[in-house]
Amino acid sequence: MKTPLPPVAAAFVLALGIATFLLSACGCDREAANPSSETTEDSGTTTTPAATDVDSNAGYNPAPMVEYVEVDMGPVLPPMKVPKDNPLTPEKIELGELLFFDTALSADNSMSCATCHDPELGWGNGEKIAEGASGVRGKRNVLSILNVGFYSKHLFWDGRVRTLEQQALVPVFESSEMGMTSEAELLGRLKENDDYQKRFAEAFGDGITAANVAKALASFQRTIYVKEIPYDRYLAGDKTAMSASAIRGSEIFRHRRVNCVACHPAPLFTDHLPYNIGIGMDQEEPDWGFHHTKGWAYWGKFRSPSLRGIDQTGPYMHDGSLATLEEVVEYYNKGGIEHEYTDAAMQNLNLSEQQKADLVTFLREGLREIRDDK
Ligand code: HEC
Ligand code: HEC
Repeated sequence: MKTPLPPVAAAFVLALGIATFLLSACGCDREAANPSSETTEDSGTTTTPAATDVDSNAGYNPAPMVEYVEVDMGPVLPPMKVPKDNPLTPEKIELGELLFFDTALSADNSMSCATCHDPELGWGNGEKIAEGASGVRGKRNVLSILNVGFYSKHLFWDGRVRTLEQQALVPVFESSEMGMTSEAELLGRLKENDDYQKRFAEAFGDGITAANVAKALASFQRTIYVKEIPYDRYLAGDKTAMSASAIRGSEIFRHRRVNCVACHPAPLFTDHLPYNIGIGMDQEEPDWGFHHTKGWAYWGKFRSPSLRGIDQTGPYMHDGSLATLEEVVEYYNKGGIEHEYTDAAMQNLNLSEQQKADLVTFLREGLREIRDDK
Protein backbone atom coordinates (compact mmCIF):
# COMPACT_ATOMS: atom_id res chain seq x y z
CA MET A 1 0.00 0.00 0.00
CA LYS A 2 1.24 3.51 -0.79
CA THR A 3 1.48 6.02 2.01
CA PRO A 4 -0.24 9.23 0.95
CA LEU A 5 1.81 12.43 1.18
CA PRO A 6 1.30 14.30 4.45
CA PRO A 7 -0.83 17.39 3.69
CA VAL A 8 1.99 19.87 4.37
CA ALA A 9 4.34 18.13 1.98
CA ALA A 10 1.59 17.83 -0.59
CA ALA A 11 0.86 21.55 -0.33
CA PHE A 12 4.55 22.31 -0.65
CA VAL A 13 4.87 20.20 -3.74
CA LEU A 14 1.81 21.85 -5.21
CA ALA A 15 3.13 25.33 -4.39
CA LEU A 16 6.44 24.47 -5.97
CA GLY A 17 4.67 23.28 -9.07
CA ILE A 18 2.55 26.40 -9.32
CA ALA A 19 5.47 28.74 -8.65
CA THR A 20 7.53 27.09 -11.33
CA PHE A 21 4.63 27.13 -13.71
CA LEU A 22 4.05 30.84 -13.18
CA LEU A 23 7.70 31.65 -13.57
CA SER A 24 7.98 29.68 -16.73
CA ALA A 25 4.89 31.37 -18.10
CA CYS A 26 6.34 34.86 -17.57
CA GLY A 27 8.12 34.88 -20.88
CA CYS A 28 11.60 35.13 -19.36
CA ASP A 29 12.10 31.44 -19.74
CA ARG A 30 10.50 29.98 -22.80
CA GLU A 31 12.27 26.67 -22.77
CA ALA A 32 11.41 25.78 -19.18
CA ALA A 33 8.10 24.44 -20.39
CA ASN A 34 9.18 20.91 -19.78
CA PRO A 35 5.84 19.53 -18.68
CA SER A 36 6.84 16.66 -16.45
CA SER A 37 9.91 18.19 -14.89
CA GLU A 38 8.38 19.44 -11.66
CA THR A 39 7.08 16.24 -10.17
CA THR A 40 6.68 15.10 -6.62
CA GLU A 41 9.96 13.27 -6.63
CA ASP A 42 11.65 16.34 -8.03
CA SER A 43 10.88 18.46 -5.02
CA GLY A 44 12.32 15.73 -2.83
CA THR A 45 15.66 16.01 -4.58
CA THR A 46 15.72 19.74 -4.83
CA THR A 47 15.13 20.56 -1.19
CA THR A 48 18.50 19.06 -0.26
CA PRO A 49 20.72 22.09 -0.86
CA ALA A 50 24.19 20.59 -1.15
CA ALA A 51 23.22 17.43 -3.02
CA THR A 52 24.82 17.81 -6.41
CA ASP A 53 24.99 14.26 -7.63
CA VAL A 54 21.56 14.13 -9.11
CA ASP A 55 22.10 10.99 -11.14
CA SER A 56 19.77 8.71 -9.31
CA ASN A 57 16.46 7.08 -10.08
CA ALA A 58 14.75 9.77 -8.05
CA GLY A 59 12.64 10.84 -10.99
CA TYR A 60 13.86 14.43 -11.16
CA ASN A 61 14.67 13.90 -14.81
CA PRO A 62 11.72 13.46 -17.13
CA ALA A 63 13.89 11.55 -19.60
CA PRO A 64 13.47 7.79 -19.28
CA MET A 65 16.18 5.78 -17.50
CA VAL A 66 18.34 3.71 -19.79
CA GLU A 67 20.13 0.39 -19.49
CA TYR A 68 23.74 0.59 -20.55
CA VAL A 69 26.52 -1.68 -21.73
CA GLU A 70 30.04 -0.55 -20.88
CA VAL A 71 32.45 -0.41 -23.79
CA ASP A 72 36.16 -0.64 -22.96
CA MET A 73 37.99 2.49 -24.14
CA GLY A 74 41.56 1.46 -23.41
CA PRO A 75 43.90 1.96 -20.47
CA VAL A 76 43.39 5.69 -19.88
CA LEU A 77 39.75 6.53 -20.50
CA PRO A 78 36.84 5.15 -18.52
CA PRO A 79 34.49 2.69 -20.23
CA MET A 80 31.88 4.37 -22.41
CA LYS A 81 28.29 3.65 -21.43
CA VAL A 82 26.31 2.79 -24.52
CA PRO A 83 22.55 2.10 -24.33
CA LYS A 84 21.91 -1.61 -24.46
CA ASP A 85 19.46 -1.27 -27.33
CA ASN A 86 21.91 0.63 -29.53
CA PRO A 87 25.23 -1.23 -29.67
CA LEU A 88 27.97 0.46 -31.68
CA THR A 89 28.46 -1.00 -35.15
CA PRO A 90 30.53 0.30 -38.08
CA GLU A 91 27.38 0.50 -40.24
CA LYS A 92 25.58 2.77 -37.76
CA ILE A 93 28.63 4.95 -37.20
CA GLU A 94 29.10 5.54 -40.93
CA LEU A 95 25.43 6.23 -41.45
CA GLY A 96 25.44 8.61 -38.48
CA GLU A 97 28.36 10.50 -39.98
CA LEU A 98 26.48 10.97 -43.27
CA LEU A 99 23.42 12.22 -41.41
CA PHE A 100 25.49 14.56 -39.21
CA PHE A 101 26.85 16.39 -42.24
CA ASP A 102 23.66 16.27 -44.33
CA THR A 103 21.69 19.48 -44.82
CA ALA A 104 18.66 17.39 -45.83
CA LEU A 105 17.96 17.22 -42.10
CA SER A 106 16.93 20.86 -42.12
CA ALA A 107 13.67 22.12 -43.58
CA ASP A 108 15.23 24.45 -46.17
CA ASN A 109 18.34 22.34 -46.79
CA SER A 110 20.51 25.08 -45.34
CA MET A 111 21.80 23.51 -42.18
CA SER A 112 23.35 20.30 -40.90
CA CYS A 113 24.45 19.40 -37.41
CA ALA A 114 27.95 20.36 -38.53
CA THR A 115 26.85 23.92 -39.25
CA CYS A 116 26.95 24.47 -35.50
CA HIS A 117 29.23 21.54 -34.60
CA ASP A 118 32.06 22.11 -37.08
CA PRO A 119 35.04 19.71 -36.78
CA GLU A 120 37.32 22.57 -37.85
CA LEU A 121 36.11 24.61 -34.88
CA GLY A 122 36.48 21.94 -32.21
CA TRP A 123 33.01 20.60 -33.08
CA GLY A 124 31.46 23.89 -31.95
CA ASN A 125 30.93 27.04 -34.04
CA GLY A 126 33.52 29.35 -32.55
CA GLU A 127 30.90 31.92 -31.67
CA LYS A 128 29.96 33.32 -28.31
CA ILE A 129 26.26 32.53 -28.50
CA ALA A 130 24.27 30.37 -30.89
CA GLU A 131 21.62 32.69 -32.23
CA GLY A 132 18.29 30.95 -32.35
CA ALA A 133 19.57 27.63 -31.09
CA SER A 134 17.69 25.40 -28.69
CA GLY A 135 18.25 25.66 -25.00
CA VAL A 136 17.51 29.12 -23.75
CA ARG A 137 17.20 31.07 -26.93
CA GLY A 138 20.00 33.42 -27.75
CA LYS A 139 21.73 32.90 -24.44
CA ARG A 140 23.84 29.79 -24.82
CA ASN A 141 27.15 28.90 -26.34
CA VAL A 142 27.24 25.89 -28.69
CA LEU A 143 28.55 22.92 -26.76
CA SER A 144 31.31 21.07 -28.51
CA ILE A 145 30.44 17.43 -29.09
CA LEU A 146 34.04 16.40 -28.33
CA ASN A 147 33.97 13.63 -25.68
CA VAL A 148 30.18 13.76 -25.63
CA GLY A 149 29.85 9.95 -25.55
CA PHE A 150 31.31 9.96 -22.06
CA TYR A 151 28.51 12.06 -20.57
CA SER A 152 26.09 9.45 -19.38
CA LYS A 153 24.29 11.57 -16.79
CA HIS A 154 23.58 14.97 -18.25
CA LEU A 155 23.56 16.31 -21.76
CA PHE A 156 23.26 20.00 -22.63
CA TRP A 157 24.59 22.75 -20.38
CA ASP A 158 21.61 22.25 -18.10
CA GLY A 159 21.45 18.45 -18.12
CA ARG A 160 17.95 18.33 -19.51
CA VAL A 161 18.57 15.20 -21.56
CA ARG A 162 20.15 11.90 -20.56
CA THR A 163 21.32 10.19 -23.74
CA LEU A 164 22.54 11.09 -27.19
CA GLU A 165 19.58 9.14 -28.57
CA GLN A 166 17.17 11.39 -26.67
CA GLN A 167 19.09 14.48 -27.78
CA ALA A 168 19.64 13.81 -31.49
CA LEU A 169 16.29 14.88 -32.89
CA VAL A 170 15.87 17.95 -30.67
CA PRO A 171 17.64 20.37 -33.06
CA VAL A 172 16.02 18.77 -36.12
CA PHE A 173 12.51 19.70 -35.02
CA GLU A 174 13.42 22.98 -33.32
CA SER A 175 11.76 25.69 -35.41
CA SER A 176 14.63 28.11 -34.97
CA GLU A 177 17.25 25.52 -35.83
CA MET A 178 16.76 22.88 -38.49
CA GLY A 179 13.03 23.52 -38.56
CA MET A 180 11.59 20.18 -39.69
CA THR A 181 7.90 20.29 -38.93
CA SER A 182 7.17 16.58 -38.72
CA GLU A 183 8.71 13.16 -38.56
CA ALA A 184 6.93 12.28 -41.79
CA GLU A 185 8.66 15.16 -43.56
CA LEU A 186 12.08 14.01 -42.33
CA LEU A 187 11.51 10.34 -43.09
CA GLY A 188 9.99 11.08 -46.50
CA ARG A 189 13.06 12.98 -47.47
CA LEU A 190 15.45 10.29 -46.34
CA LYS A 191 13.41 7.59 -48.08
CA GLU A 192 13.87 9.33 -51.44
CA ASN A 193 17.56 8.59 -51.15
CA ASP A 194 18.56 5.10 -52.34
CA ASP A 195 21.86 5.18 -50.51
CA TYR A 196 20.07 5.87 -47.21
CA GLN A 197 17.54 3.09 -47.98
CA LYS A 198 20.40 0.64 -48.34
CA ARG A 199 22.41 1.88 -45.38
CA PHE A 200 19.49 1.99 -42.95
CA ALA A 201 18.54 -1.54 -43.98
CA GLU A 202 22.09 -2.72 -43.31
CA ALA A 203 22.44 -0.90 -40.01
CA PHE A 204 18.98 -1.70 -38.59
CA GLY A 205 16.47 -4.42 -39.26
CA ASP A 206 13.55 -2.01 -39.58
CA GLY A 207 14.98 0.53 -42.01
CA ILE A 208 14.33 4.28 -41.98
CA THR A 209 12.59 5.39 -38.77
CA ALA A 210 13.05 8.45 -36.58
CA ALA A 211 14.40 6.29 -33.75
CA ASN A 212 17.01 4.88 -36.09
CA VAL A 213 18.06 8.35 -37.27
CA ALA A 214 18.66 9.19 -33.61
CA LYS A 215 20.51 5.94 -32.99
CA ALA A 216 22.82 6.45 -35.96
CA LEU A 217 23.57 10.08 -35.02
CA ALA A 218 24.28 8.99 -31.45
CA SER A 219 26.60 6.20 -32.62
CA PHE A 220 28.63 8.56 -34.77
CA GLN A 221 28.94 11.11 -31.97
CA ARG A 222 30.29 8.44 -29.60
CA THR A 223 33.34 8.19 -31.86
CA ILE A 224 34.16 11.91 -31.46
CA TYR A 225 36.50 12.14 -28.50
CA VAL A 226 40.05 13.17 -27.68
CA LYS A 227 41.94 9.91 -27.68
CA GLU A 228 45.28 11.03 -26.32
CA ILE A 229 46.76 14.16 -24.74
CA PRO A 230 50.32 14.95 -23.56
CA TYR A 231 49.18 14.82 -19.92
CA ASP A 232 48.15 11.14 -20.37
CA ARG A 233 51.72 10.39 -21.43
CA TYR A 234 53.12 12.47 -18.59
CA LEU A 235 51.00 10.62 -16.01
CA ALA A 236 52.09 7.30 -17.54
CA GLY A 237 55.68 8.24 -16.72
CA ASP A 238 56.94 10.12 -19.78
CA LYS A 239 58.34 13.25 -18.11
CA THR A 240 59.29 14.73 -21.49
CA ALA A 241 55.68 14.76 -22.70
CA MET A 242 55.04 18.29 -21.38
CA SER A 243 57.06 21.52 -21.12
CA ALA A 244 58.34 22.73 -17.74
CA SER A 245 55.65 25.43 -17.73
CA ALA A 246 52.86 22.90 -18.43
CA ILE A 247 54.19 20.65 -15.64
CA ARG A 248 54.11 23.56 -13.19
CA GLY A 249 50.60 24.35 -14.48
CA SER A 250 49.47 20.78 -13.80
CA GLU A 251 50.64 21.15 -10.20
CA ILE A 252 48.66 24.35 -9.81
CA PHE A 253 45.62 22.61 -11.37
CA ARG A 254 45.83 19.92 -8.66
CA HIS A 255 46.95 22.20 -5.82
CA ARG A 256 44.75 21.88 -2.73
CA ARG A 257 43.97 25.59 -2.61
CA VAL A 258 43.33 26.03 -6.34
CA ASN A 259 41.67 22.65 -6.77
CA CYS A 260 40.52 22.73 -10.38
CA VAL A 261 40.75 18.97 -10.16
CA ALA A 262 37.83 18.84 -7.69
CA CYS A 263 35.36 19.47 -10.50
CA HIS A 264 37.60 18.60 -13.46
CA PRO A 265 39.29 15.28 -12.53
CA ALA A 266 41.43 13.38 -15.07
CA PRO A 267 41.17 11.66 -17.46
CA LEU A 268 38.03 13.42 -18.78
CA PHE A 269 38.46 16.52 -16.60
CA THR A 270 34.79 16.55 -15.65
CA ASP A 271 32.98 15.07 -12.68
CA HIS A 272 29.72 15.35 -14.67
CA LEU A 273 28.09 17.39 -11.91
CA PRO A 274 26.39 20.78 -11.93
CA TYR A 275 27.83 23.85 -10.16
CA ASN A 276 27.18 27.54 -10.11
CA ILE A 277 30.59 29.12 -10.61
CA GLY A 278 29.11 32.59 -11.02
CA ILE A 279 29.05 32.81 -14.80
CA GLY A 280 26.39 35.28 -15.92
CA MET A 281 25.36 36.00 -12.33
CA ASP A 282 25.88 39.73 -12.90
CA GLN A 283 23.21 39.76 -15.61
CA GLU A 284 19.77 41.13 -15.00
CA GLU A 285 18.22 37.78 -15.91
CA PRO A 286 20.80 35.05 -15.39
CA ASP A 287 20.30 31.71 -17.13
CA TRP A 288 18.74 29.30 -14.63
CA GLY A 289 20.74 26.30 -15.80
CA PHE A 290 19.89 22.99 -14.13
CA HIS A 291 16.94 24.65 -12.44
CA HIS A 292 15.03 24.03 -15.65
CA THR A 293 14.77 20.34 -14.93
CA LYS A 294 15.84 19.91 -11.32
CA GLY A 295 14.42 22.75 -9.27
CA TRP A 296 15.62 25.55 -7.04
CA ALA A 297 18.66 23.93 -5.45
CA TYR A 298 20.10 23.82 -8.95
CA TRP A 299 19.53 27.45 -9.82
CA GLY A 300 22.31 28.83 -12.02
CA LYS A 301 24.19 25.54 -12.04
CA PHE A 302 25.74 24.11 -15.19
CA ARG A 303 27.45 20.84 -15.92
CA SER A 304 31.20 20.90 -15.39
CA PRO A 305 32.48 20.44 -18.96
CA SER A 306 35.24 18.07 -20.03
CA LEU A 307 38.54 19.88 -20.57
CA ARG A 308 40.11 17.22 -22.83
CA GLY A 309 40.96 19.16 -25.97
CA ILE A 310 39.83 22.45 -24.40
CA ASP A 311 42.23 24.48 -26.59
CA GLN A 312 39.92 23.80 -29.56
CA THR A 313 36.54 24.75 -28.17
CA GLY A 314 36.45 28.44 -27.27
CA PRO A 315 34.77 30.71 -26.52
CA TYR A 316 34.08 29.27 -23.11
CA MET A 317 31.27 28.89 -20.58
CA HIS A 318 27.53 28.45 -21.11
CA ASP A 319 27.17 32.06 -22.20
CA GLY A 320 30.42 32.15 -24.18
CA SER A 321 31.47 35.08 -22.01
CA LEU A 322 35.15 34.12 -21.74
CA ALA A 323 36.91 34.26 -25.10
CA THR A 324 40.26 32.69 -24.23
CA LEU A 325 41.85 30.35 -21.72
CA GLU A 326 43.72 33.40 -20.33
CA GLU A 327 40.34 34.95 -19.55
CA VAL A 328 39.14 31.69 -17.96
CA VAL A 329 42.14 31.56 -15.62
CA GLU A 330 41.77 35.26 -14.81
CA TYR A 331 38.11 34.61 -14.00
CA TYR A 332 38.88 31.78 -11.55
CA ASN A 333 41.79 33.76 -10.08
CA LYS A 334 39.50 36.61 -9.03
CA GLY A 335 37.05 34.12 -7.51
CA GLY A 336 34.42 34.39 -10.22
CA ILE A 337 31.37 36.63 -10.08
CA GLU A 338 30.04 36.93 -6.58
CA HIS A 339 26.46 35.90 -6.00
CA GLU A 340 24.60 34.28 -3.14
CA TYR A 341 24.17 31.08 -5.19
CA THR A 342 27.77 30.86 -6.33
CA ASP A 343 29.76 27.83 -5.13
CA ALA A 344 31.84 28.36 -2.00
CA ALA A 345 34.87 26.96 -3.83
CA MET A 346 35.00 30.17 -5.86
CA GLN A 347 37.56 32.23 -3.91
CA ASN A 348 40.28 34.67 -4.86
CA LEU A 349 43.25 32.42 -5.70
CA ASN A 350 46.01 35.06 -5.57
CA LEU A 351 48.03 33.43 -8.35
CA SER A 352 51.13 35.25 -9.58
CA GLU A 353 51.47 36.22 -13.25
CA GLN A 354 53.82 33.26 -13.74
CA GLN A 355 51.39 30.83 -12.09
CA LYS A 356 48.52 32.06 -14.25
CA ALA A 357 50.65 31.66 -17.37
CA ASP A 358 51.67 28.13 -16.32
CA LEU A 359 48.07 27.12 -15.70
CA VAL A 360 47.09 28.39 -19.15
CA THR A 361 50.00 26.48 -20.71
CA PHE A 362 48.84 23.30 -19.00
CA LEU A 363 45.27 23.74 -20.29
CA ARG A 364 46.40 24.64 -23.79
CA GLU A 365 49.33 22.25 -24.27
CA GLY A 366 48.90 19.52 -21.67
CA LEU A 367 45.26 18.80 -22.55
CA ARG A 368 45.68 19.27 -26.30
CA GLU A 369 44.71 16.41 -28.59
CA ILE A 370 47.64 14.44 -30.00
CA ARG A 371 46.60 13.65 -33.56
CA ASP A 372 48.04 10.99 -35.80
CA ASP A 373 48.83 13.59 -38.43
CA LYS A 374 50.90 15.75 -36.07
C1 HEC B 1 21.73 26.17 -34.73
C2 HEC B 1 22.89 25.53 -34.12
C3 HEC B 1 22.84 24.06 -33.81
C4 HEC B 1 22.53 23.01 -34.68
C5 HEC B 1 22.11 23.09 -36.13
C6 HEC B 1 22.74 21.80 -33.91
N1 HEC B 1 23.14 22.09 -32.65
FE1 HEC B 1 23.69 20.78 -31.22
N2 HEC B 1 23.86 22.29 -29.86
C7 HEC B 1 23.71 23.64 -30.15
C8 HEC B 1 23.72 24.39 -28.89
C9 HEC B 1 23.54 25.91 -28.75
C10 HEC B 1 23.90 23.46 -27.86
C11 HEC B 1 23.90 23.74 -26.36
C12 HEC B 1 22.43 23.94 -25.98
C13 HEC B 1 22.17 23.85 -24.49
O1 HEC B 1 22.95 23.25 -23.76
O2 HEC B 1 21.12 24.34 -24.08
C14 HEC B 1 24.00 22.15 -28.50
C15 HEC B 1 24.21 20.96 -27.83
C16 HEC B 1 24.33 19.73 -28.43
C17 HEC B 1 24.67 18.50 -27.75
C18 HEC B 1 24.94 18.34 -26.25
C19 HEC B 1 26.42 18.23 -25.99
C20 HEC B 1 26.77 18.04 -24.54
O3 HEC B 1 27.97 18.04 -24.22
O4 HEC B 1 25.88 17.89 -23.71
C21 HEC B 1 24.69 17.50 -28.68
C22 HEC B 1 25.00 16.04 -28.44
C23 HEC B 1 24.34 18.11 -29.95
N3 HEC B 1 24.15 19.45 -29.77
C24 HEC B 1 24.19 17.39 -31.14
C25 HEC B 1 23.62 17.93 -32.28
C26 HEC B 1 23.17 17.13 -33.43
C27 HEC B 1 23.25 15.60 -33.52
C28 HEC B 1 22.68 18.01 -34.34
C29 HEC B 1 22.05 17.68 -35.68
C30 HEC B 1 20.90 16.80 -35.65
C31 HEC B 1 22.84 19.35 -33.76
N4 HEC B 1 23.38 19.26 -32.52
C32 HEC B 1 22.50 20.53 -34.43
C33 HEC B 1 23.54 24.18 -31.40
C34 HEC B 1 23.21 23.46 -32.53
C1 HEC C 1 33.23 23.98 -8.20
C2 HEC C 1 33.53 23.26 -9.44
C3 HEC C 1 34.61 23.83 -10.35
C4 HEC C 1 35.91 24.19 -10.04
C5 HEC C 1 36.61 24.15 -8.69
C6 HEC C 1 36.53 24.57 -11.29
N1 HEC C 1 35.62 24.48 -12.31
FE1 HEC C 1 35.97 24.90 -14.27
N2 HEC C 1 33.98 24.71 -14.67
C7 HEC C 1 33.02 24.30 -13.77
C8 HEC C 1 31.70 24.50 -14.36
C9 HEC C 1 30.38 24.16 -13.70
C10 HEC C 1 31.91 25.06 -15.63
C11 HEC C 1 30.80 25.54 -16.59
C12 HEC C 1 30.25 26.81 -15.99
C13 HEC C 1 29.26 27.59 -16.82
O1 HEC C 1 29.30 27.55 -18.05
O2 HEC C 1 28.43 28.28 -16.18
C14 HEC C 1 33.36 25.15 -15.80
C15 HEC C 1 33.97 25.60 -16.96
C16 HEC C 1 35.35 25.61 -17.17
C17 HEC C 1 36.00 25.88 -18.43
C18 HEC C 1 35.29 26.18 -19.74
C19 HEC C 1 34.83 24.90 -20.39
C20 HEC C 1 34.01 25.11 -21.64
O3 HEC C 1 33.89 24.13 -22.40
O4 HEC C 1 33.46 26.19 -21.87
C21 HEC C 1 37.36 25.80 -18.21
C22 HEC C 1 38.45 26.00 -19.25
C23 HEC C 1 37.54 25.51 -16.80
N3 HEC C 1 36.31 25.38 -16.21
C24 HEC C 1 38.77 25.40 -16.17
C25 HEC C 1 38.93 25.36 -14.78
C26 HEC C 1 40.17 25.64 -14.08
C27 HEC C 1 41.49 25.99 -14.76
C28 HEC C 1 39.90 25.55 -12.74
C29 HEC C 1 40.83 25.84 -11.57
C30 HEC C 1 41.36 27.20 -11.51
C31 HEC C 1 38.50 25.21 -12.62
N4 HEC C 1 37.94 25.11 -13.86
C32 HEC C 1 37.84 25.01 -11.40
C33 HEC C 1 33.26 23.81 -12.50
C34 HEC C 1 34.44 24.04 -11.78
